[in-house]
Amino acid sequence: MRPIGIFDSGIGGLTVARAIANRLPNVPLIYFGDTAHLPYGDKSPELIRHYASHISLHLKEMRCQAIVVACNSASSNALEAIHETAGEDVAVIDVVQPVVQDVSRRFGGRRVGVIGTRATIESEGYQRQLSKSGCDVIALATPLLASAIEEGFHEGLVSEALLQAYLGQGTFDAVNALILGCTHYPLVADQIAALLPASVEIINSAELVADAVAQVVDLESNRTDTLDPTATMPLRQFLVSDLTVSFAQSAQRFFGEEVQLEESGLWEF
Ligand code: DGL
Repeated sequence: MRPIGIFDSGIGGLTVARAIANRLPNVPLIYFGDTAHLPYGDKSPELIRHYASHISLHLKEMRCQAIVVACNSASSNALEAIHETAGEDVAVIDVVQPVVQDVSRRFGGRRVGVIGTRATIESEGYQRQLSKSGCDVIALATPLLASAIEEGFHEGLVSEALLQAYLGQGTFDAVNALILGCTHYPLVADQIAALLPASVEIINSAELVADAVAQVVDLESNRTDTLDPTATMPLRQFLVSDLTVSFAQSAQRFFGEEVQLEESGLWEF
């Protein structure tokens, strides 16, 4: 049974992996967090493309039937390169398209906000695609947020102060929807909502991406009666390119259950 490969710069993409695991509990997942190179959000598009292509090739070589780009920075800057690497027999699902489709359908012609890393916002991917449905897009880079959340600051004073500094000016008070354009941000979604008027709908990509994945994967592979009891492959594998205690602790917060991280030898040091 061919697994689904999911990757992010670090462990934020586990919010997307969680939604996919809930939606397709019997399909094997391989998660790859490029912890040796995070944050991607401050890297150049060329470097993000280099990392993303290399990881995609690795997942393809692990026989993945689909590659989920659970990182907005990579989705916004490296999608073409990932498709080229994946080739025709491996589906590619990114985190931007499903959100753009949903928001365009429901908020076309209205005012929409998006926050994300510098790499995501400066690529202008969301802005370009949403403007096709007449959305008036207000975009803001919030570069310190992902690192703070990754460090465990996602429900107290630190994230509150950061969010106040980024959102407290009223920039998004008049939008109809605010897109969380970074897979780390669902962990502070409640704090974000508390800072904005109740009329602003907060858009979290995880469920939308899980729906998109369910449409392209081989649904036969989600049937329990086809599970091979002699299979040696674990149902879920969590690989990181640099394993530290802090990553191991944060991984559980992002995935919502105990996660056994393994170091992958992908990069030569
Ligand atoms: N999770 C990444 C994203 O969605 C952001 C973290 C990073 O900057 O590496 O863009």
